[in-house]
Amino acid sequence: MAELLRVQAEKSKCRSLRPLAFLLTVLVLVFLSAGVLSPRIPVLGTRPGGAGEAATKPAGQQVVKLPRMVYPQPRVLTPSRKDVLVLTPWLAPIIWEGTFNIDILNEQFRLQNVTVGLTIFAIKKYVVFLKLFLETAEEHFMVGHRVIYYVFTDRPGDVPRVPLRKGRRLVVLQVPAAARWQDVSMRRMEMISDFCARRFLREVAFLVCTDVDMRFRDHMGVEILSPLFATLHPGFYGATRQTFTYERRPQSQAYIPKDQGDFYYLGGLFGGSVSEVHRLTTACHQAMTTDRANGIEAVWHDESHLNRYLLDHKPTKVLSPEYLWDEQLLGWPAVMKKLRYVAVPKNHQEIRNR
Ligand code: UDP
Ligand code: GAL
Ligand code: MN
Repeated sequence: MAELLRVQAEKSKCRSLRPLAFLLTVLVLVFLSAGVLSPRIPVLGTRPGGAGEAATKPAGQQVVKLPRMVYPQPRVLTPSRKDVLVLTPWLAPIIWEGTFNIDILNEQFRLQNVTVGLTIFAIKKYVVFLKLFLETAEEHFMVGHRVIYYVFTDRPGDVPRVPLRKGRRLVVLQVPAAARWQDVSMRRMEMISDFCARRFLREVAFLVCTDVDMRFRDHMGVEILSPLFATLHPGFYGATRQTFTYERRPQSQAYIPKDQGDFYYLGGLFGGSVSEVHRLTTACHQAMTTDRANGIEAVWHDESHLNRYLLDHKPTKVLSPEYLWDEQLLGWPAVMKKLRYVAVPKNHQEIRNR
């Protein structure tokens, strides 16, 4: 033992100058980097992000140190909206114009260095919707933040080249088409689930999953992001649960009895952290596989299964119908201060057939 200690003492004598040299090198490096790195990065302890690099922790959860900001004081005795429900009974915010300050939210999210993934499916003829979708997304979707568009398509050659802002890119994922439109719609769950494990978990913090037959016409930003969010269907926001078009046959995995249900959510806009979206899409895909084995298909396909999942797993944010609207069908009621994202009129028969 004594011999061992002596040998080590001698070794450390030989090395005695090394720590000093090391310390000097570190000091020089720290000094040099101080002027180069943004002060935000060390404050937050997050990685500097290159294209596609993402904070792995979902934002909106962590407490971040904000710079000094001047904005109107929130008044405890003055509700932000008196005409609509702004909080679910499980205390998830319902997002309406007038309930949030986008400057505060942008600053919080920017500090967390977040990349948002947007999944869209353009199978068969639906590639025609991509150009307007992407052009309007560049104007209104997550402006100022890093975005990756993931376009799932069987026709990669038909994906239009739309100029993208700095920090935004588009990834084409080639996938097979299904013959029936119902299967195209439902298989989105399986494909999103697969790609969560294959790349989304590494590349983005959040996923927004949406239909492609849409255009943005007003702001849709980080106020929608949360571990698990879904959108109120514009046709049912004022309806009672008995009239929701849930799957009502007990044989289906999507079954919801008449005395249950919170809201009727759309299949066309949901999302959250990659891990929550992975869970949701995997569960919905499994439920649809079970239904198929039992010879049953839910009335509104993936949307029915989404509603069942969200009854059991309450969303942490709910988007008002401002976030998905159909003006042709529903006009513009006063309660909608903004129409942010609207359906592009289409001829179902024509577009769904080859
Ligand atoms: N879809 C597709 N090709 C098809 C049918 C559907 O790419 O042939 C995708 C597309 O993203 C579309 C979504 O599935 O937005 C849902 O279908 P659709 O928009 O027709 O449903 P609706 O909004 O009319 O209920
Ligand atoms: C329709 C919509 C369908 C489905 C249905 C639910 O307006 O086009 O996709 O959501 O409502 O009842
Ligand atoms: Mn649609």
